[in-house]
Amino acid sequence: MRATRRPLVNANVARISASGIRKYFDLAAGLEGVISLGVGEPDFVTPERFREAAIRSIREGRTKYTSNYGILELREAISEHTARLRGVRYDPASEILVTVGVSEAVDLAMRATLNQGDEVILADPSYVAYVPGVVLAGAVPVPVPTDEAHDFRLRPEDVERAITPRTRAILLGFPNNPTGGVLEPSDVKGIAELAERHDLLVYADEIYDRLVYGREHRSIVSLPGMKERTVYLAGFSKSYAMTGWRVGYACAPAEVIEQMMKIHQYTVMCVPTAGQYAALEALRSGEEEVRRMVAAYDERRKVMLRRFNELGLHCFEPRGAFYCFPNVTRTGLSDGEFSERLITEEKVVVVPGSAFGERGAGHVRACYAASLEKIEEACDRIARFVGRR
Ligand SMILES: Cc1ncc(COP(=O)(O)O)c(C=O)c1O
Repeated sequence: MRATRRPLVNANVARISASGIRKYFDLAAGLEGVISLGVGEPDFVTPERFREAAIRSIREGRTKYTSNYGILELREAISEHTARLRGVRYDPASEILVTVGVSEAVDLAMRATLNQGDEVILADPSYVAYVPGVVLAGAVPVPVPTDEAHDFRLRPEDVERAITPRTRAILLGFPNNPTGGVLEPSDVKGIAELAERHDLLVYADEIYDRLVYGREHRSIVSLPGMKERTVYLAGFSKSYAMTGWRVGYACAPAEVIEQMMKIHQYTVMCVPTAGQYAALEALRSGEEEVRRMVAAYDERRKVMLRRFNELGLHCFEPRGAFYCFPNVTRTGLSDGEFSERLITEEKVVVVPGSAFGERGAGHVRACYAASLEKIEEACDRIARFVGRR
């Protein structure tokens, strides 16, 4: 007799769904003349100096595994960089781990610190990988709604209401993907106080820390006492136009980094060596490049924001990252229908807000890390599309 067939797959993995934004990229693939405001990545090629540094490392024969933590010079540069930007100094020997993008860092941080059934508070909407990451770590995501009326901030009073005896951590992803919202200094302070009072960890995903417009980025890790309870995550993909290189990093208390390193060691071993040299060069000489790209994003941000509002698609002013998050409800379409029809009718890719959480419904995310010409042309097409509704 044959035994009954058991499921081939892990139940926890089966519970999470594939990213809700991929479908829109697939719909657009192969269509002639598409303008994509879909993918969240710079249209700039990685600056030449960073590319050259990687090529040089290969020419010099640096083609072997590196330390599991990442090359020491890069960890030293990250330590300096974080001290300069955030006023917090991490020990390159024990408190910094170089990871395969911030993606890996988010996953490692949660797997290394959460236990079964722990609750993690996070903003709704937010980055697509957060909820699956919490679930894969065996924990429970607790989305806290953010809204346009409050500039899509994660307000301490809302966080406080979500805290239960099972809460273990707060995941802060600000500047926010998809809304472009940032936290006010009073939000950061209030959330830090809650973390202290309830003995919570904070995961601070600050991948967009350099992409802020007309203001300074405030990091929770800069506040007194927060270094001890924060896993600070940052990287190179967005600020340095290095998405394809897959380099990010985590800074945290040594006991957390030690556990994260073990998972990293047994799963990926180390970040590809050439990418680490490119990242090192980015930290050493990339400041001008960052400023140049941020100035370009700011100009594009203003154009896209104006165009959406002129079109009657009300758009909150994004203060960070590189996304506009207009409200599309007046078209009578859901955000999913809007995105799908916009591709088929006008060949413009945007992403439905509901892919980022329930509170994203009624909005779409449009990335303005595209050239001004493309943004203008896409907005002309969107105007035509909206005009037909
Ligand atoms: C908020 C946020 N965190 C992390 C990531 C992942 O970035 P990386 O390329 O460093 O893995 C992204 C990418 O879109 C993001 O938006």
